[in-house]
Amino acid sequence: MSGVLITLEGIEGSGKSTQMAILADKFSKHKLSYLCSREPGGTQLGGELRSLLLKPHPSGEKWRPDAELLLFYADRAQHLEIIIRPALAAGNVVLLDRFEDSTRAYQGAQGVPEKTLTALRQIVLKELRPDLTLLLDADPAKTLERVNVRNCEEAGFAETRFDQEGLDFHKSVRKGFLKIASDEPDRVRVIRADENIEEVAKNVWSAVASKLRAAGFL
Ligand code: TMP
Repeated sequence: MSGVLITLEGIEGSGKSTQMAILADKFSKHKLSYLCSREPGGTQLGGELRSLLLKPHPSGEKWRPDAELLLFYADRAQHLEIIIRPALAAGNVVLLDRFEDSTRAYQGAQGVPEKTLTALRQIVLKELRPDLTLLLDADPAKTLERVNVRNCEEAGFAETRFDQEGLDFHKSVRKGFLKIASDEPDRVRVIRADENIEEVAKNVWSAVASKLRAAGFL
């Protein structure tokens, strides 16, 4: 039996981490085994890349978009080979907080051409695609407020690289995600993230449960 790959995507502050925690809890309640991971940073070395990518460097030097793209893909290649593919081959459900759609949306919004994104996907993912992607969709004008509050509350926690981009950038990331969803409606389920947490969780679980049923896990 091969596993099921489920990804959660969305702009900053869309509530992915909260929904991931609720979803993991649901899995435990249904006694379903699963593996939960995230990108960037799903492996030990990937954790180092995460810091390099997301913590502003004291010198003020920033990654060029193409260098950044390759680092996200270095993280993904490592994560895929040592965590994701083995877990799927062993028949597990794998839940990922961000995956390749984030690269298309974020690095796409930074001007990386579509054909470069597709070429790298081909090299690293080959034929692998998520079985289901939940896109938590929200208005960046509202979510960025939430992110700013979070950053203030976590003063000293400097993982802010993309949080600090302006509203236009996040609007364009959102547009990128919505384009993927409209290109691949069978895979990507758009969930309104500006409802209350319980309502969002209900919609998330409904999409996940029907995929699990179809795959014989429920
Ligand atoms: P998060 O853990 O809060 O989702 O933060 C990860 C950040 O990295 C977020 O700003 C999105 C960004 N990112 C990319 O730009 N490209 C990618 O491929 C991935 C996985 C994340």
